[in-house]
Amino acid sequence: MASKKSLPISGTLTVMVIVVVLVPSAMLDETAVFRDTFMKKCVGYPEDKNTCKATLAIFEEAYVGKDKTAVTEESYNTLFDKTPFKHPCGKTMFWSGTYELASRFTQKRDNFYNVGDTLLGHVLTGMAWCGKAGSKETFTDNCADVFPNPVLSFWLKISVKFAQYACDDSYVMLDGEKDQPYYTGTVLDTHEVPNLQTNRLKSFTAILVVNKETGTKCNKESLKNLSNILKGKKINYACKEVTRSIKNCF
Ligand SMILES: NC(=O)c1ccc[n+]([C@@H]2O[C@H](COP(=O)([O-])OP(=O)(O)OC[C@H]3O[C@@H](n4cnc5c(N)ncnc54)[C@H](O)[C@@H]3O)[C@@H](O)[C@H]2O)c1
Repeated sequence: MASKKSLPISGTLTVMVIVVVLVPSAMLDETAVFRDTFMKKCVGYPEDKNTCKATLAIFEEAYVGKDKTAVTEESYNTLFDKTPFKHPCGKTMFWSGTYELASRFTQKRDNFYNVGDTLLGHVLTGMAWCGKAGSKETFTDNCADVFPNPVLSFWLKISVKFAQYACDDSYVMLDGEKDQPYYTGTVLDTHEVPNLQTNRLKSFTAILVVNKETGTKCNKESLKNLSNILKGKKINYACKEVTRSIKNCF
């Protein structure tokens, strides 16, 4: 039996063992936790387990063992080649400045799809990941503090692919209360609209979310820019105002 005097010593030893053994393994576990979250979200999408395992392996090839700035949009080429979109390409829903509303809308209306409704978009929403030259680990802190970085490069690449895939009649949900609902420099402007395909898309409709319908907000200058870009692509453009309830939308 341990004497009362020896107890503080064994207490100190226990603390040392916890510090020495548990801290490094917790650090290494960042990779395990990331993989576990990826797999859970992928299987829950739902997608079968083997496909999820293979997709995770291809995904990791894009950034593991590389410094953050070495991961560009091109780094994800193989991932997107091997993980083609499966959702119906019509009724694609883009958004800009309206994330919450557009996400809620496509969740309720399962015949509309935004990028977060695709397998990779669903799995990687809310996640961060990066690697380091010479390391096999995935890190999840401070991954997006440089340009380019693995997280931004992924979202830019998926946006390009998502826009190229859109067909038939597609939509963009915009904030009709802003001065410029179609805002220069957004991902919508730089990576999505330029990649809409003339031979795939019939129409592109701007849904302007407004506090109160006035019938005038579609005339805003920035929407004329959008309309002209689509005209140049020979894609029919339409615009309509809807209030936040979106009951009058479709
Ligand atoms: N996590 C994701 O799901 C994700 C990530 C990146 C890109 N995307 C794709 O890109 C599009 C969204 O990205 P985005 O950059 O266009 O929009 P965003 O809503 O992410 O906006 C980007 C920035 O511009 C500002 N902004 C947006 N519209 C504005 C306006 N009218 N006036 C003033 N400021 C405005 C926002 O506040 C934000 O700071 C979607 O169509 C989506 O398909 C999705």
